[in-house]
Amino acid sequence: SRVIYVTRHGESEDNAAGRIGGDASLAPNGMKYAKALSRFIDRRRVDFAAEVEENNRRLAHVMASGSSSGANSEPESVSSHGSGAAAPCSMPMSLRRHVQPDFEIWTSMLKRTMETVEYFDPLKYRIKNIRSLNEIYAGKCEGMTYEEIAREYPDEYEARQLDKFYYRYPGIGGESYADVVLRLQQVIVELERIRHSVLLVTHRAMARTLLSYFMDIPTTHMPDMDLPLGFIYGCEPRPFGNFLRVWRYDP
Ligand code: G3H
Repeated sequence: SRVIYVTRHGESEDNAAGRIGGDASLAPNGMKYAKALSRFIDRRRVDFAAEVEENNRRLAHVMASGSSSGANSEPESVSSHGSGAAAPCSMPMSLRRHVQPDFEIWTSMLKRTMETVEYFDPLKYRIKNIRSLNEIYAGKCEGMTYEEIAREYPDEYEARQLDKFYYRYPGIGGESYADVVLRLQQVIVELERIRHSVLLVTHRAMARTLLSYFMDIPTTHMPDMDLPLGFIYGCEPRPFGNFLRVWRYDP
């Protein structure tokens, strides 16, 4: 059992100014999110281990009773109720061995994602910075606001509205969502290969692409998915499809 968590970086100086692309640092609100995120994931690791333990116990109970009636008489699984609230100090000794020793954090190579993971304890998390997780590259529109793009490049702006998935930003290195899907293939292969939990701290277009893959969302909807800052998505692979849980940062 494992969870693939996806979140965007904390608010950056460019987010605050409405500019896309670039390599800005976090704004003060973004630093607050970075601190909250490390506390949240620390606690989630413990809670998730407890959920796995509880599910194993329920499964053993069902197997021992030889019918599904035992399962029906069990209380509702804790896994269907958000994050839970068990603090690390309340964890029974029997659960400690289930806390996954391997928990990786993958960021892009842009400052705003690397700064978002600054508060994680490097002794407890393996942190990797991966260029393929960088935000969609907006070519000559990098650093502009959407209003500026609409004013200076009206044809480009309209073309993107008409077909956002295949629209490729003009200028050297400019990308489309279709390009991003290709760029993320190796990341997805690696995510499927490893067996432990991962937190991906990345960007809006990347989060859309990753969640579309895991939750089977069509490319026609993917570029318009509403994924605001401050949300954490947890995909749990299950036998009949992935299960998604969502948490919202409450400043
Ligand atoms: O360009 C950066 C944005 O975060 C991606 O959002 O594809 O909706 O413009 P967008």
